[in-house]
Amino acid sequence: MIKQEDIAKILDATEIVDVVGAFVSLKKRGVNYIGCCPFHNEKTPSFSVNPSKGIFKCFGCGEGGNAVNFLMKHEHYTYPEALRFLANKYGIEIQEVVLNDEQKHAQDEREALFHVTEFAQKYFADILFNDTDGKAIGLSYFLERDLTESTIKKWGLGYCKDKYSDFTDYAKKNGYLEEVLIKSGLTISKEENHVKYDRFRGRVIFPIYNIGGRPLGFTARVLSSEKTKAKYVNSPESDIYSKGKVLFGLHLAKNEIVKQDLCYLVEGNMDAIMLSQNNVENVVATSGTALTVDQIRLIKRYTKNVTILYDGDSAGIKAAFRAIDLFLENGLNIKIVLFPDGEDPDSYCRRLPQEEFKAYIRDKAENFILFKTHLLLEDAKDDPFKRSSLIKEIIHTISLIPDNIERAAYVQQCSSKLNMQEEVLNNELNKLLRQRHFNQKKQEGDIVEPPADLFLDNDTEQSFITPKQSEKQILAETFPDESQERAIISLLLNYGDKETTQLIQDKEETYLVAAFLVGDIVTDQIEFDNKTYQAIFDIYKSYLFEKGELPSLHIITNNQDKAIQDIATTLLFNNYSVSPLWETKGIIIPDPESQDKLNQSIKDCLLSLKINKLERKINVVKDKIKQETNEDDVLILLSEHKTLLKIKQIIAQELNRIVTK
Ligand code: CTP
Ligand code: MN
Repeated sequence: MIKQEDIAKILDATEIVDVVGAFVSLKKRGVNYIGCCPFHNEKTPSFSVNPSKGIFKCFGCGEGGNAVNFLMKHEHYTYPEALRFLANKYGIEIQEVVLNDEQKHAQDEREALFHVTEFAQKYFADILFNDTDGKAIGLSYFLERDLTESTIKKWGLGYCKDKYSDFTDYAKKNGYLEEVLIKSGLTISKEENHVKYDRFRGRVIFPIYNIGGRPLGFTARVLSSEKTKAKYVNSPESDIYSKGKVLFGLHLAKNEIVKQDLCYLVEGNMDAIMLSQNNVENVVATSGTALTVDQIRLIKRYTKNVTILYDGDSAGIKAAFRAIDLFLENGLNIKIVLFPDGEDPDSYCRRLPQEEFKAYIRDKAENFILFKTHLLLEDAKDDPFKRSSLIKEIIHTISLIPDNIERAAYVQQCSSKLNMQEEVLNNELNKLLRQRHFNQKKQEGDIVEPPADLFLDNDTEQSFITPKQSEKQILAETFPDESQERAIISLLLNYGDKETTQLIQDKEETYLVAAFLVGDIVTDQIEFDNKTYQAIFDIYKSYLFEKGELPSLHIITNNQDKAIQDIATTLLFNNYSVSPLWETKGIIIPDPESQDKLNQSIKDCLLSLKINKLERKINVVKDKIKQETNEDDVLILLSEHKTLLKIKQIIAQELNRIVTK
């Protein structure tokens, strides 16, 4: 475990724009940076990073937090993994505190998978270069396929001997648990006869890495052309590996993809490796699976331009058609290169001199619509039936393009290619678009919106952003004072370190905003109904009372309590819109530029919080009076009621701009 003070050091050193910027392309916009959210699919950026507060927030999907949360979410790191990553990045030394066994176990499960996978990768690579069989069988196979030694090393390729359980035995001898070996898929366990053996025995090994270059799993190829064995055997899905969420080679390709603003997409691992060896480094492979939206999102972080390099056979073309539609729907620009019959990128790349191959994939890259039209036309020839279904097919593809202007341009191109009037094509297109729009609306209608009265404060207030469902639920676990409580916490978070001048018994005194708010609320013994607000308040209280200082924001944005993180990030990004109805209710919107407005706002918020709490208390007393049968007690309650009313009146006078009953 990492020591608390080291965590603070790490968080202080962390520049969120640095961290997020490594994965998302960010542009400066005012005080914030914006980009396309990596956590959901979007075409226009609604993902914001605020460097001074050290937080990010997506106004589309609601994801938000600090740099650590970002890494956990994005890189699937655990909390300590994310901290170690940052410590490493910023050169901060950390002292690990020893964990007890139970903590160790919980934290180590994923880490153990990473470790055993890393261990296996090194082992297989070592066998390839240093073992007699490894060299004679594995290495010679790769060399025969024209891979150079440096390529083999760069990709960490390996060999698993055909020896039943050599690897498993060796790993166990090195302290790796059988259970973890089985979970990772490296070892297969046959329940019936209690035997354990190596999944990849007798195969050459291609490790699959995450973006950071950490091995997650393997794909392993047979050497013989025996048809009885599967050509490739893959790691099973595990806590660290999911086939549809990785792209083979992305860890090596990402920088070049950004530089070229283009990603080549191939099917086979060998294709990717061979192209990369031949200086086409912006290449990734789907590894034969149908492309997924997750994989498209991975690419989209680095570029919007993709060129598909698939085999020219019918399977390749079918795969390309599927990929085109998916790419278009996700707003990417897409081109295609097909290879001559019987060739794949790997073989063709070896056939041509390097520069010629590069020129081929550059010049033969055909825009998808021409490609599709071309192919289908060839197939349809003069058959009017086929021609009409071809047109429908192409219009369908065009309709997936999100951008109007682009769509129009494609209709134009297509019309000349097909020798058809643009108007006819446009009619067809519009029909489709209308139909889709209608279906979408219908679907949206099915989604039950949370009832408006979830926000019990009864003003039909609409935040500037729509909080995502979980936030709504958190906010909804609240009581009539939710809005006032939220305002106080927002002031603490956004303006806690500013100064405020308030009139205390006719004397002007200047305080830190946080100290003033906390002091006043504690003095009046006000408790927050919302437990998350209370928890945030308590952090401020304990820091101010016990240490005499403000908690730094990352204590809150990085809190272990997810609800605290969520609320804090939302309020920090949303500081001017605590409630857009404030102004209409006569409450001044806080403004750091105007000391007067800030002072006034603090006062208003405190008073309206108090008056609400007071009203609730008055109602409770009223109820008690109704139920109380003992006359003496009734009298006591009545006097209490009277006192409360008096206080309320005083506050209401002070707060004369606010409507009170
Ligand atoms: N694949 C797989 N399982 C199979 C066949 C293929 O997982 N039984 C995946 C592999 O990731 C492979 C990709 O699909 O890389 C493309 O398949 P293919 O073109 O057959 O393989 P290549 O990598 O081109 O293999 P090679 O050139 O060595 O024949
Ligand atoms: Mn191949």
